Parts: sequence; structure tokens; C-alpha cells
Amino acid sequence: MARYDFDTVIDRKNTDCAKWDGMEPLFGSNDLLPMWVADMDFKAPPEVIEALRERVDHGIYGYTRRFEPYREAIAGWFRRRHGWEIRTEWIRHAPGVVPALAAAIMAFTQPGEGILVQPPVYYPFFSTIKGRGRTVVENPLKLVNGRFEMDFEDLEKKLDDSAVKLVFLCSPHNPVGRVWSREELEKFGAICAARGVVVVSDEIHCDILYKGVKHTPLADVSDAMRESTITTVAPSKTFNIAGLATAAVVIPSKRLRDNYQAVIDFVHIDGGNVFGGAALEAAYTKGDAWLDALLEYLEGNLDYIDAFLAEHLPTVSMLRPEGTYVPLLDCRAMKLSGRELEKLLVEKGKVALDGGHWFGTGGEGFARINIATPRALLKDGMERIALALGTLG
Ligand SMILES: Cc1ncc(COP(=O)(O)O)c(C=O)c1O
Repeated sequence: MARYDFDTVIDRKNTDCAKWDGMEPLFGSNDLLPMWVADMDFKAPPEVIEALRERVDHGIYGYTRRFEPYREAIAGWFRRRHGWEIRTEWIRHAPGVVPALAAAIMAFTQPGEGILVQPPVYYPFFSTIKGRGRTVVENPLKLVNGRFEMDFEDLEKKLDDSAVKLVFLCSPHNPVGRVWSREELEKFGAICAARGVVVVSDEIHCDILYKGVKHTPLADVSDAMRESTITTVAPSKTFNIAGLATAAVVIPSKRLRDNYQAVIDFVHIDGGNVFGGAALEAAYTKGDAWLDALLEYLEGNLDYIDAFLAEHLPTVSMLRPEGTYVPLLDCRAMKLSGRELEKLLVEKGKVALDGGHWFGTGGEGFARINIATPRALLKDGMERIALALGTLG
């Protein structure tokens, strides 16, 4: 028997679960199969559950801090998995990656200044920027032969022409599934460094990589990028522990680090929670074998989708991702608006996917599917999608 089980369907309903219990406000019903928000329908690694159990059994859950073993666990993981040498003093805390993005906005920009994003992209990038009165400056990705790429010419232009002080890079990119190559990141980094902008590189998806793909940390591509990059990472996507609200922020530059920390101290969110700390340490020290098994399972799910679409719904195709478990389905041939597509999926298929249009410019005509689910639920989901979209093909 396989060492880890990803096939068992676990009932997540009535567990205060955003994905299964929280669909109604967005989709109008909870009676749908959820394939939207990016967490997994798998249990966390047994090694993580065991560490949490020990922490629960201790029985005292007072104020917590993160000490050297915690930082060593983070540094060790990135050395082992990504060949990135992080000094433990570079590591700062955030209760999530989105709060870290918000803190960076407050630390490095003033109201009215611009923050550059590369749509279609994870939609909270837009809401954090707009929420504090900053301006979104778009450098849309280009779709070239079925694969999204950066538009470097436009990037140079946007950085030259506007009051951009900060850049949000999504690496690997949600939702387009690209794992930027070292060459792409070097080029991107050189353009940003020449203009003196600070870059937040959101690398939360960096561990979900498919066969033969390698993740390059932006801060590792040059000395200039090490000094101007704030990297956000977390065990939350990788080990399905997003509900434990624990992320890490890696900032090699002391000046940037102190500015970031000043905001975290002001909002008083450096404390963290005991369970998030215990889980992160266990995951990053003992989670390798589980993750390797997960990646194999996810790759099998991608193969399943490709085969299913070819056989049952050839008007739709998947942009085969290099990384992330939330790839895009290309439904553009159906010539439906984002709202029409969503309506069909929800009302006819009874399935909840993120609309491509939620991710801004370039997302229209796509839907984002969450494949981190047991094969039986994936099969059910694909059948619902085919039911919703099939007759139009
Ligand atoms: C690119 C990206 N950043 C951040 C997050 C969420 O981060 P957190 O839950 O730690 O705030 C997600 C979740 O889907 C994501 O895709």
C-alpha cells in the first residue's frame, strides 16, 4: 500500500471550511462541488498532524515566539528543495502572505503611488493595493502559443512612465501556472533593478512543481535582486495548513527588513499562533516524502484532466501548468463572457470554479480549477463541467 493516502474522500462540510461551507456569498449556493479556493481536500502530512497533536496535548497555549529551530527549519527547507541559502536573520513573520503584501504596501509606498502587477493574477493583489489608496499599474502577461509569458518591453515602459514604487511578482504564477525560468527572472530582475523599485516576490506556490521543473527564487538571481526583493513563502499551500495562518517573509536587505518590521510591530501581528509554529517546523523538517508523493498524485490528476477533455469536451483545454495546483481551463472557444461561463458552471453543472475574469486583464474566457482533490472528486467535477459546457461545444 502507498505510504500516503490521497484517494480517501474526507467530508469537509460543517468544519467552518471556506471552500465547502462558504460558497453561498460568491456562487449563490452551497450545494455545489467546490473546485475554487486554493486549499486541498487532503489531510496534512501525518508528521504535521503528530506535531500538532503533541502541542494540543501539552494543554497550555500562551503567547508564542519563533526561535532559532523554527528559522533553521525554514532555511533548511529552502536549501534542500530550492538550493537557496537563507540566513536565519533575514526571516520575518506574517500571519499570511496577503497580510505580508499589505505590510509591504504600507512600508514602501505612499497613497497615490503605483504598484505594478502582471495580470491575470491572484485577485487579492488588486484589493490590497486599492484598499490603501495606491494605484494598480498593469503589465499584462502575453499568451504566446498557449503559454503565458512576461511582456518585458511593456514592463520597462510601465516602470519608466509611472509612479511605480513597488512590484508584485507572482512566482510561480497563479493562475497561469508558469514557473518562471532563471533567464526570465534575470531579465525581469535587471529591468526592476535598473529602476530602483522594490519587488515583493510571492513564492507561496514554489513547492508545487511538476516533472522536470525547477523553481528559482528571485532573490537568488543577482546581488541587486537579493538587496531589493522581499520574498513571501509559507507551508500553507504545500502542506494544506492555510488555516493555521503562518507565513514567513525573507528580506536580506537590513533597510527593507527594518521598514517591514516597523509595520508588523505597529499592527502588532508578530506574535503568531502556537499551532502554526509547530506545524511549520514539522512540515519543513519532516515533510519531504509526503510532498514528493503529493506531487506524483497531482501529476496524475493533470493527466486525468487532459485525457478527459480530449475525450469528452474537446472545445475546452487545460493550460498544462509547470507549477501550482490551480491551472486554467481555456474555454475561450465557447465565446462566453465570464459571467455566462460562471452561470452555466454553477446552475447547470453545480460546480464552483474561480472565474478567469476574477484575475483581471487576460483572464476572460478561462476558468480556474483546483485539482488538489481525490481522483473520485476530480472525476465528479470534470463530469459536472462537461455537463455544463458540453452541449455548447
Ligand atoms: C499567489 C498567492 N499568494 C497568496 C495566497 C494566500 O496567502 P495567505 O493565505 O497566506 O494570505 C494565495 C492563495 O491562493 C496565492 O495564490
